[in-house]
Amino acid sequence: MYCTRKINADYTWVGADCRRLALFEGVFGVPDGVSFNSYLLTDEKTVLFDTVDNAVRTTFRENVTHALAGRTPDYLVVHHMEPDHAAEMADMARLYPDMTILCSAAAKNMIAQFFDAELAARVTVVKEGDTLCTGRHTLRFIAAPMVHWPEVLMTYDETDKLLLSADAFGSFGALNGSLFADEVDFDRDVLDEARRYYANIVGKYGAQVQAVLQKAAGLDVQMLLPLHGHVWRRDLGYILGKYDLWSRYEPETQGVMIAYASVYGNTENAANILACRLAEQGIRVKMYDVSVTPSSYVVSDAFRYSHLVFAAPTYNGGVFITMDELLRDIASHGLQNRRFALLENGTWAPVTARQMAALIEPLKGWQQVGAPVTIRSAAHEAQMQAVEQLAAAISGDISGEKQ
Ligand code: FEO
Repeated sequence: MYCTRKINADYTWVGADCRRLALFEGVFGVPDGVSFNSYLLTDEKTVLFDTVDNAVRTTFRENVTHALAGRTPDYLVVHHMEPDHAAEMADMARLYPDMTILCSAAAKNMIAQFFDAELAARVTVVKEGDTLCTGRHTLRFIAAPMVHWPEVLMTYDETDKLLLSADAFGSFGALNGSLFADEVDFDRDVLDEARRYYANIVGKYGAQVQAVLQKAAGLDVQMLLPLHGHVWRRDLGYILGKYDLWSRYEPETQGVMIAYASVYGNTENAANILACRLAEQGIRVKMYDVSVTPSSYVVSDAFRYSHLVFAAPTYNGGVFITMDELLRDIASHGLQNRRFALLENGTWAPVTARQMAALIEPLKGWQQVGAPVTIRSAAHEAQMQAVEQLAAAISGDISGEKQ
């Protein structure tokens, strides 16, 4: 049975929610599910925009069949070849042998790689600025390389002023029936998952996101239709503003994220003491045990907070495993412009401050605040002064930023 939603007179959402997928892209937990969005334009010609992940193929097919109401798709526009959107394209192409596939030249190569040369031969390549008239609607294609793969296209509907924005402006989390962002309390209930999606999926490509935002600024966009998450038809400036901030690597929140790894709780205790001293000075603090919380959540808050503290013990002569993984993950996302502070623990060889710094200092615009705190096995009265000095240095730096 179909489960579609109308977007306006001619556009229908024919995607699907998935709440069974344990790991998105095989790595990111999605405890609130995820939506795979696909859209159908019914005009004199019909256009299907992207397909979906294999996980929701049955619902998708039922939705497309219902929305077509006996017609067949004249075009399939492939904005993005990642299989969470393109998995069903081969089956759709078999089902609708007269359907023309439109995509970028790079996507055509990927169709041959993911599927076969026969399917790639059905493609008509389109590029930036090309248009397609479907009757009442004129669609203009926009190149959006590296948002989030090199082949990505977006489509601007010049008639209805819609931007089909591929992965951009998406979010983790199932829609739960609420297709439009104004049908939920986005800031309270969805923003964290939108940020986690952005930081982990697209975060590395800030310059390319900025390029797309520049293109969007030149268009009269009244609706954003992403491949995951909610459709934006009101207050577009909210999500555009978040993307502008995130892609410039500017923090959203002046405050401190403390990420710690602790084998027996002694490093955790020192981190908690630092958190108390910061909170006493009115600083907002968020803490993560990086052995407990999956890295994607910590990476997301690294994008959010202005000041990051990393605390970890020495382990096998290096940085404790889970902290080492986190710092490499943050570095691989190219996060820029953060102030950081360090706390190390070692029973006989406290060397992690230097080693942690080596992992993050190459990042653009990162600057260390205060002297690293060293504890040996456990925090004692003797380390209190160093912790207080670090808290004061961080607090002073945040106060300076606010001015
Ligand atoms: Fe949702 Fe990059 O695919």
